[in-house]
Amino acid sequence: MCGIIGYLGDREATPILMESLKRLEYRGYDSAGVAVLELPKAGHANRTSITKSEAKVDTLIEKLEANMPSGKLGIGHTRWATHGKPTYINAHPHTDCHGKIFVVHNGIIENFAELKAELEAAGHEFPSETDTEVVPHLIEANYKGDFLAAVRAALKRIKGAYALAMFSSDDPELLVGARLNAPLVVGLGDGEYYIASDITAIIPYTKRVLVLGEGEVAAVTPLGAEVSTLDGVTVKSKVVHVDWDVAQAQKGGFPHFMLKEIHESPDAVANAMRGRLTDDGAVTFREFDVPDDRLRSITDVLLLGMGTSLHAAMIGEHVIEDWVGIPARAEDASEFRYRRPTVGDHTLNVVITQSGETADTLVALHQAKERGSLSVAVTNVIASSAARDADGAIYLHSGPEIGVASTKTLLAHMISLYLLAVRLATVDGRVSLERRRELVEALRALPDQVRGILARDKEIVELAHKYSGYRNFMFAGRGLDYPVALEGALKLKEISYIHAEGTSGGLLKHGPIALLDEQFPVVAICTASSTKDKMVSNVHEIVARSAPVLALVTEGDHSLDGVPTDIFKMPAVEEAASAVLNTVMLQLFAYHVAVKLGQNVDQPRNLAKTVTVE
Ligand code: G6P
Repeated sequence: MCGIIGYLGDREATPILMESLKRLEYRGYDSAGVAVLELPKAGHANRTSITKSEAKVDTLIEKLEANMPSGKLGIGHTRWATHGKPTYINAHPHTDCHGKIFVVHNGIIENFAELKAELEAAGHEFPSETDTEVVPHLIEANYKGDFLAAVRAALKRIKGAYALAMFSSDDPELLVGARLNAPLVVGLGDGEYYIASDITAIIPYTKRVLVLGEGEVAAVTPLGAEVSTLDGVTVKSKVVHVDWDVAQAQKGGFPHFMLKEIHESPDAVANAMRGRLTDDGAVTFREFDVPDDRLRSITDVLLLGMGTSLHAAMIGEHVIEDWVGIPARAEDASEFRYRRPTVGDHTLNVVITQSGETADTLVALHQAKERGSLSVAVTNVIASSAARDADGAIYLHSGPEIGVASTKTLLAHMISLYLLAVRLATVDGRVSLERRRELVEALRALPDQVRGILARDKEIVELAHKYSGYRNFMFAGRGLDYPVALEGALKLKEISYIHAEGTSGGLLKHGPIALLDEQFPVVAICTASSTKDKMVSNVHEIVARSAPVLALVTEGDHSLDGVPTDIFKMPAVEEAASAVLNTVMLQLFAYHVAVKLGQNVDQPRNLAKTVTVE
């Protein structure tokens, strides 16, 4: 999730780009850059000045203040690295071979490797490791004197997600924006125009915006903004008036980052799959490109993590055992590091860490590595310690997560682990083509299904309010939904400070049930699975102890009809997909309980986003 801004107008572009990037920094901050078309001196050709910083926006601003380019057209970018480390060369804007076309990008170009190979064969040179760099070169390759036509032709070849702001130094009065699967707005000022990844960038300048639709291109000139499709068909876009302040805009209009991030889950789920999965379920990880033979030699999988990431590890453990048929174990990294680890060179060590910097997880990774295991970090942060220290990385591509309690990145972790399990099962020949296709279908349907849960926010608010008066909670589930129940309890206690514990349905009778009475509610995950009937029996046992029950039940399942419970109906989906949807529901439930109690959900007391000490 990068921040992008473009400006065309009567004022100096550079200060506007600088201020906008500062406001966009919450979207990504590992490097930044601007390109400004400088006002030509008489008799000279147009010249574009590029300033980049491999550090935060402040460093870029210092550089610009020392050497301020003067011009009325420019683009800027603050980067959350996806392809290639946060270096000067990888910082945007990117340009073509002749330094005429300038592009900033948010998103992931899925087919960049194929396009890059084709362009390299035609003589184009690519200094950076980014996916973005194919865009200016592809435009250059299609350029026959009409920049907009070249942009359209280039974009027709691109698969994946993009929000782009672009210009050519041959067209000093044309700023172009385009989007697909990533947001982009055009700000309409008084004789001046902006293109931005979100309105946070432009809110002090204008309240009037055009929101581009999927696959649409905006051509901005001093005469106005024209929106069209990639085929050049004009689109009539609606002008939207926004009255947010900057803080509201950064939260996308949501009251908290946590809620905004829960609402980003459909994208987090889609981005974790992007470019990695074919229709036949062939999985590739660019930064964990291990030959089939090496993967085939894996005899067991060790998954390490802390907090929410430990729950992701437990979900991974379950699917790897189930789909791959080899032993897998999820371990609390802080405990693992003080045990005598039984791992060897046939162990695959999967470290799960959103930040890539959790101290206990890193030490555990080093120990497993020392014993010769093959390691992979599943992380959201490019070039984080875990990504650097492991043999490979699977990046989540979720964009920054600001709420301390992890939400969207857990879902991305789950999807990544599902893909890893499919990859391992495929090399082992343990999963049929038919089953893989089924899984692909289930995974691809997930972003919309997550949207479906988010759309039922009101129902969840009602339940949360009904239950917010209790001081204790139990969450129970079985199979894949056991870690989901643990996570439901963790989320609730983290942000609401209500005592909550998670248990497996089976374990309930071995202790936790002693706690239950009419003041101790249980959230029971009873969605369709091979152990659903067992969970239904557990609910009967709970109800018999007079404990209130909120049950998650698959639509069309009537097992709990007539049992005094609150029911939240979940869609009938594949079990692995159901775990994702159940997680989203429980995140929203915890959020709304905490908000009802007036807690600081984004920064809960005593907690840190990243725990870099033991
Ligand atoms: C902290 C955060 C949790 C997170 C855990 C692991 O405790 O508050 O939300 O799950 O660290 O973080 P990691 O970055 O390794 O996933």
